[in-house]
Amino acid sequence: SITDSITDSIVGFIPVPVSEADNVVVPPGYRISVIAPWGEPITGTMPQYRLGNSGADQGMQVGTHHDGMHFFPIEGDDPWRGSSTDGLLVMNHEYVEPRYMHESARGQAMDSDDFPTIDDNTRDADEVLKELNGHGVTVVRIRKDPFGNWHTVPDRLNRRVTGLTPMELRGPVRGTDFVRTKFSPDGTMTRGTLNNCSHGVTPWNTYVACEENWAGYFSNRADEDDSQPREHKRYGVSYGTSRYGWELAAGGADEYVRFNATPTADSATGDYRNEPNTFGWCIEFDPFNPERVPQKRTALGRFAHEGIVFHTAVAGQPIVCYSGDDARNEYIYKYISSNPYEPATAGGHLLDEGRLHVAKFNDDGTGEWLPLVFGENGLTSANGFSSQADVLVNTRLAADTVGATKMDRPEWGAIDPNTKQVYFTLTNNTSRDPEDTDNANPRGPNPHGQIIRWREDNNNPAATRFDWDLYVVAGDDTGPDNLTGGRDLNGNPLPYEAMFSSPDGLWIDPDSRIWIQTDMSESVMNTNPEYVMFGNNSMLVGDARTGDIRRFLTGPRGQEITGCIMTPDQRTLFINVQHPGATTEPEAFAAGNIDGTWPDHRNSPTGYGRSATVVIQRIDGGIIGA
Ligand code: FEO
Ligand code: CA
Ligand code: CA
Ligand code: CA
Repeated sequence: SITDSITDSIVGFIPVPVSEADNVVVPPGYRISVIAPWGEPITGTMPQYRLGNSGADQGMQVGTHHDGMHFFPIEGDDPWRGSSTDGLLVMNHEYVEPRYMHESARGQAMDSDDFPTIDDNTRDADEVLKELNGHGVTVVRIRKDPFGNWHTVPDRLNRRVTGLTPMELRGPVRGTDFVRTKFSPDGTMTRGTLNNCSHGVTPWNTYVACEENWAGYFSNRADEDDSQPREHKRYGVSYGTSRYGWELAAGGADEYVRFNATPTADSATGDYRNEPNTFGWCIEFDPFNPERVPQKRTALGRFAHEGIVFHTAVAGQPIVCYSGDDARNEYIYKYISSNPYEPATAGGHLLDEGRLHVAKFNDDGTGEWLPLVFGENGLTSANGFSSQADVLVNTRLAADTVGATKMDRPEWGAIDPNTKQVYFTLTNNTSRDPEDTDNANPRGPNPHGQIIRWREDNNNPAATRFDWDLYVVAGDDTGPDNLTGGRDLNGNPLPYEAMFSSPDGLWIDPDSRIWIQTDMSESVMNTNPEYVMFGNNSMLVGDARTGDIRRFLTGPRGQEITGCIMTPDQRTLFINVQHPGATTEPEAFAAGNIDGTWPDHRNSPTGYGRSATVVIQRIDGGIIGA
């Protein structure tokens, strides 16, 4: 067995019940506060949050739809680990909801699919700018005051990276025909990062933002006969108007028109047919060095990157990291750098040369990493691949070709720092057929998801074989014989205090507590009978050794809980509440219904809820979760 010996539980709090309340609930003895909500001014002229903020204002404020994040300590009170009272909070902003962003949307009866309404085939250009600036990453300094309360503070490092920030392409795809655009005829640059879901932190202390559902932001109306190139088609680039219709911005500015990737009569470098090929990557930047241009690391592959997680680096050994492709029946990937890690010279170049692999989970509990290398494993010209750049731009097709295991929507990964076991959430898969199940993805359809974990052969991160098991199968408390019933590590039913659906965010603390965050979709939460019993999205804590799981926190209405990081002393936990109020109809807001207006409620400057960071501390100052 790969389960370590069972000792006393490391999970020490009283679990909280399921909740449908419009607030955050934590165990007795804990307290919460809220920082860095959407629209908080952090830089420039510091414009206050209001519905009438311009696009430029949004570029000086915290973005919206907070997701993965990290706390980068400022070197300080603990010379070994850095400060636990002062640091940079760096967080992703996954997407925007235009219905809550603009004066023009106020009071309109619509759901997120109906807005923006597009009149006369144009969109207001400043609304488009505001939406692009609502995306990306926020870097903001935060500090704990002598009373123990955290605040954002003005700082020269405060910064927004947005959907417009110039970025460099690095790795094998740089400079190839796949990425030549009107903006960058030599294929070395692009603008912006979009739909940044989870993230990673490199062993050299830089931040990596990952591009997840970027494809729908583009339109390639090539033809009605599905004649999009495979680089677009396999990823779901739109045939009609894109998700937000940015390509229709009034005035036709180049930075907005580029979202129309339809080939024109111009040559390949005279239009934006290749613009979608400059998305779907992992973006690395140094939050302590605003002068350095963010870099898209193409050697890590192109897909709907949920996040990226790195093994602890060891001098003389390669860098090893993992990334999941969050779409139904997609894959889990692993990268092994060609060059070894050396602390003195480590940097992003280690992510430019290496071997990308994709996971195959065998039913007997073994697994293998299949290389995605041009010329190997059928990735040859006979099968339609022309180069390593081609393999990387079409990572999904390469993984199809080598016979990887189709997973139930891989979301976050986390690595147990004490055992080196790797955990991945598989959030759910409503389209898995009953006859297409396997032991790693045992339910079809799979409404509630599972968490898979593996240990590399000889516990060597660079191994190409591994052993895996399921840490938990999520679900209700009806028992493992029921298709919707959950089961723990030991095969036992999940009790009420442990039942949950749709694991997404995942982080493992230094004591091996596994922090699990849920993302039931807005379309089913609180309304679909299969999901009502789980209440609002929540966060649970698991013990890696015993499999014991307890609910630690419940969130407000309409949101998902995501993003999870502690200070080095483990006395402050930061999490994000994303899209609060998303299940509330605008008419309900207009009628003064306060459900869905977290965190401001009756004090909301706009009448809407907004994404924000929650700070969680123990009243006695102890270690969170213990
Ligand atoms: Fe953006 Fe897969 O969650
Ligand atoms: Ca997610
Ligand atoms: Ca989500
Ligand atoms: Ca999700």
